[in-house]
Amino acid sequence: MNQWPLPRVLAHRCGGTLAPENTLIGLEFAVAHRCFGVEFDVMLSGSGTPILIHDETLDRTTTGFGRVCDTPDAALLGLDAGAWHSGRFAGERVPLFADAIRRCRALGIAANVEIKPAEGFELATGRVAAAVAAAGWAGADRLPLLSSFSVTALAAAAEAAPHLPRAILFDALAPDWLEQVRALGAVGVVCNANRLDAATAAAVKQHGFGLAVYTENDPLRARQLFDFGVDSVITDRPDLVTAAS
Ligand code: G3P
Ligand code: MG
Repeated sequence: MNQWPLPRVLAHRCGGTLAPENTLIGLEFAVAHRCFGVEFDVMLSGSGTPILIHDETLDRTTTGFGRVCDTPDAALLGLDAGAWHSGRFAGERVPLFADAIRRCRALGIAANVEIKPAEGFELATGRVAAAVAAAGWAGADRLPLLSSFSVTALAAAAEAAPHLPRAILFDALAPDWLEQVRALGAVGVVCNANRLDAATAAAVKQHGFGLAVYTENDPLRARQLFDFGVDSVITDRPDLVTAAS
């Protein structure tokens, strides 16, 4: 397999559901459960800074409201991104992508960076996220995997940091997945665990590409997916799924 840089289990959005999503404390929770791989989402703030957040709006996961792409760092970085999960995480902040990289490296965590552009920001998000990733992981033994549902963002990432491995995100694998992967120089694909069957997984592996799935929380199904040839399972329950790997 060419350059698949990830371990078998990745905690979804840093720590799965064990901690508030896309936070630095989530990284600590992953490691506490002996999960040394994570996936997280990177979007640009209103200042053009890459940060960790999933939604295009602040409302669900922070004490703020409104669009992320309209909110400058000065307002965004002071918000509480932990209290929505539970009181024990109150005070947790929205992380800068650069800080998340430093924490991953300090903890020995491999990362799948999902480039999550707000609509209309695909090129900029791909370019900036890849540049920050290249600088943050400079000299690292293991590079991150950049992934996105946006091929526009991935193409911009490829131009900004051609040496960083890339994967295309799908729900179900598209019929022309192989052409898309080749066109982008990607090392693999990431698809919905519920939309993957054994034959599709085998086709990806026969072509020599890496294969990850999201989001599988049942250890028995995870075991089956590994048996299909899946390389990495993204899970909200790293505490359960690491045992199946
Ligand atoms: O990267 C895989 C998975 O995280 C994609 O879905 O919505 O959780 O970012 P979502
Ligand atoms: Mg994601």
